[in-house]
Amino acid sequence: MLSRLSRPVSAVLRRGFGSSAQNNARVAVLGASGGIGQPLSLLLKNSPLVSNLALYDIAHTPGVAADLSHIETRAKVTGYLGPEQLPESLKNCEVVVIPAGVPRKPGMTRDDLFNTNATIVATLTEACAKHCPEAMICIIANPVNSTIPITSEVFKKHGVYNPNRIFGVTTLDIVRANTFIAELKGLDPARVNVPVVGGHAGKTIIPLISQCTPKVEFPQDQLETLTGRIQEAGTEVVKAKAGAGSATLSMAYAGARFVFSLLDAMNGKEGVIECSFIRSEETESPYFSTPLLLGKNGIEKNLGLGKLSAYEEKLVSEAMAELKASIKKGEDFVKSRK
Ligand SMILES: NC(=O)c1ccc[n+]([C@@H]2O[C@H](COP(=O)([O-])OP(=O)(O)OC[C@H]3O[C@@H](n4cnc5c(N)ncnc54)[C@H](O)[C@@H]3O)[C@@H](O)[C@H]2O)c1
Repeated sequence: MLSRLSRPVSAVLRRGFGSSAQNNARVAVLGASGGIGQPLSLLLKNSPLVSNLALYDIAHTPGVAADLSHIETRAKVTGYLGPEQLPESLKNCEVVVIPAGVPRKPGMTRDDLFNTNATIVATLTEACAKHCPEAMICIIANPVNSTIPITSEVFKKHGVYNPNRIFGVTTLDIVRANTFIAELKGLDPARVNVPVVGGHAGKTIIPLISQCTPKVEFPQDQLETLTGRIQEAGTEVVKAKAGAGSATLSMAYAGARFVFSLLDAMNGKEGVIECSFIRSEETESPYFSTPLLLGKNGIEKNLGLGKLSAYEEKLVSEAMAELKASIKKGEDFVKSRK
């Protein structure tokens, strides 16, 4: 995988891993000692785009930071442990990635994580709103359909809300869709691009296979099976790990891809497109993932849904009730928080 990290990129909607551009970004990972946090931090440490890597967690960060700091790349790694060191970890950060939170166990939905993770995300994003209000905030912690509204409400409460800088990381859904389609069609997965829109839980995950490049066709029954597999791919991993957590390595890859795309765009690279769950006017849901053109200040342009097949339109309309309920749950949580 590491060779891909230094490969030039040619296409948009795609692997930010390859930019040779130098940057001096300070990136913080909150939850850096976890199953996602550690491999994600490794990938960030390996990037020429990152000059400072701040690793924050409530456990084990001195060890993770010491370990990563011996890698012969230029990013300076610093570990921060416990709430009293959180403000310092965020100082001068341009990008903050948040994988802190509990993962699913078999039989759980992402919404079952709400009670624990809502508090963790609200606490961490309150610190971001105070100490790095201009940073790009990338939330991995689930349920993403609620943790993005939570982050937005926290930033609003602090009077520093900028919807162009708050991202729900759904990249793993795109990564999975690309991989599964490539497998079925005998294609190189690195050349497949499928936008995945909507949200990041079950039926709210909507792959737009009609917009796949290269163009692919499936009979309706196969299309429905494939769509279902993409929607439940996280559960596939949760079951296979049998109680030991959810996707970590593929999520670290996807999180790094998203951060590198963002850094490339912040660095002035043109035509960088990624899907992300954000504040949106594209549908009746106030937050929705669609392909976004990224730029120096975050979201430059929402590229919208494009032309949907009748099947995809049905999936979008069927996702609305769940999406709106998860969003409201997140918003209400912050409103009721002291
Ligand atoms: N967006 C996605 O596509 C996606 C994919 C997979 C997992 N996830 C989510 O990512 C989250 C993390 O998953 P994981 O497998 O890395 O879990 P994990 O339990 O392995 O790691 C979580 C880390 O968060 C830390 N943490 C807990 N509370 C914290 C706090 N208040 N401040 C800072 N750090 C804190 C823990 O100490 C731990 O190191 C989960 O919510 C999971 O559901 C999202």
